[in-house]
Amino acid sequence: MTKEERIYLFPLWLRIWHGINALGILILIITGISMQYSTAGFVILDFKTTIKLHNIAGIIVSIIYLMFFVGNIVSSNGFFYHFRIKGTSNRMLKQVKYYLCCFFKIEKPPYPVSEKRKFNPLQKFSYIGVMYFIVPFVIASGMALLFPEIIIEEIYSVSGIMLTAVLHGIAGFIIFIFLIVHIYIASIGESPMKNFKSMITGWH
Ligand code: HEM
Repeated sequence: MTKEERIYLFPLWLRIWHGINALGILILIITGISMQYSTAGFVILDFKTTIKLHNIAGIIVSIIYLMFFVGNIVSSNGFFYHFRIKGTSNRMLKQVKYYLCCFFKIEKPPYPVSEKRKFNPLQKFSYIGVMYFIVPFVIASGMALLFPEIIIEEIYSVSGIMLTAVLHGIAGFIIFIFLIVHIYIASIGESPMKNFKSMITGWH
């Protein structure tokens, strides 16, 4: 790729948000798994330290989320998250077909990156889903668990705290799965490190 073809896709504020968010979420996943699976006889990480770390990382990820949310409203980056419902499934299917049959034959992608298109349809769908539905849900349910007095006591005779904790765990697990797929997809392409370098320098 020549210098003229380089596109500045990831502004500094976005890279700062992404770095802090990625680190925070990694800590949340590790401490979350540790809390979920530790028992009296099998302790992965010290319980008190784990809870403290989980709470601190959760608060940091929540505050930094505002940076992403407001940044996407006031800057042109929000444009990449605009969504046209009509034809969405066809566009996503085209991208799935490309990943399944044509990617390894080094065929040209159906939705190449340009100044007007940073994400392919699958990326766009997963980023919108995670950033505008799952992450806000995890933040809201996490805050509720931090201040349990605001949680309804019982919902259809099920403990409100229990239900909130289970839903919080499921949403956290979805982010964990997203992260694995996200890193894998980011690593495939012309060279494995290309996208990671872009997220550090801002240039694609
Ligand atoms: C170690 C962890 C992570 C790595 C190595 C990583 C890597 C990357 C890379 C290389 C990109 C740019 C290329 C692309 O769009 O695929 C990217 C973009 C993005 N990542 Fe991650 N990521 C990580 C964690 C996360 C987490 C935890 C989230 C959300 C919960 C996330 C959400 C996003 C979003 C929304 C974008 C697009 C940002 C934009 O351009 O508007 N990432 N990531």
